Amino acid sequence: MLKVENIRFGYVPSVDIFRDVTFTIEGGEYIAIGGRNGCGKTTITRLLVGLEKASDGRMYYNGTDITSMPPSKRGQFIGYVFQQPDRQMFRPTVATEVAFGPESLGRSKSEVKRIVDDVLERTGIAHLREAYPPTLRRGEKQRVAIASALAMQSKILILDEPTSGQDGKETKE
Ligand SMILES: Nc1ncnc2c1ncn2[C@@H]1O[C@H](COP(=O)(O)OP(=O)(O)OP(=O)(O)O)[C@@H](O)[C@H]1O
Ligand SMILES: [Mg+2]
Repeated sequence: MLKVENIRFGYVPSVDIFRDVTFTIEGGEYIAIGGRNGCGKTTITRLLVGLEKASDGRMYYNGTDITSMPPSKRGQFIGYVFQQPDRQMFRPTVATEVAFGPESLGRSKSEVKRIVDDVLERTGIAHLREAYPPTLRRGEKQRVAIASALAMQSKILILDEPTSGQDGKETKE
């Protein structure tokens, strides 16, 4: 369970983007956040993963106060796909890129291979495993980022505009 209590945040001190934002996400729930451009959807996700710090309020994960927990530590239970997925890719092939997360979690070589094969299959990009990520189409990059997040096997998965760059059929998938 993820609980957000009375969060307040602004990029500059005098302009709050959020004030008194409170919500709870229970295990097994799928939540969509909608709203016009610039209303703060990305900002709320950045607060949840710890990339921005609330000026007021608290956050809890299964009862533990994570308000001051750095993003690297939150990464153990929150996976995140950025709105611009290329910003999170730096390895020479899709397969090694997707392997990075489970490797850094200390999974064995055979486990990493099993996880990578599984998530590439599930995201429909098994045929791209040897491709160089910067050369991919936007929708394909998006899938690599989603596969990388799934490979972390984290309890919570946050996707910022996951269907951007996908056509109608791909969006449905
Ligand atoms: N780094 C930043 N510094 C200052 N202001 C910012 C910064 N990032 C975003 N903002 C402002 O904060 C507000 C919320 O932006 P945010 O990116 O969270 O919106 P969004 O709902 O994700 O928009 P979009 O639909 O375009 O992705 C906007 O007014 C934006 O201009
Ligand atoms: Mg956004």
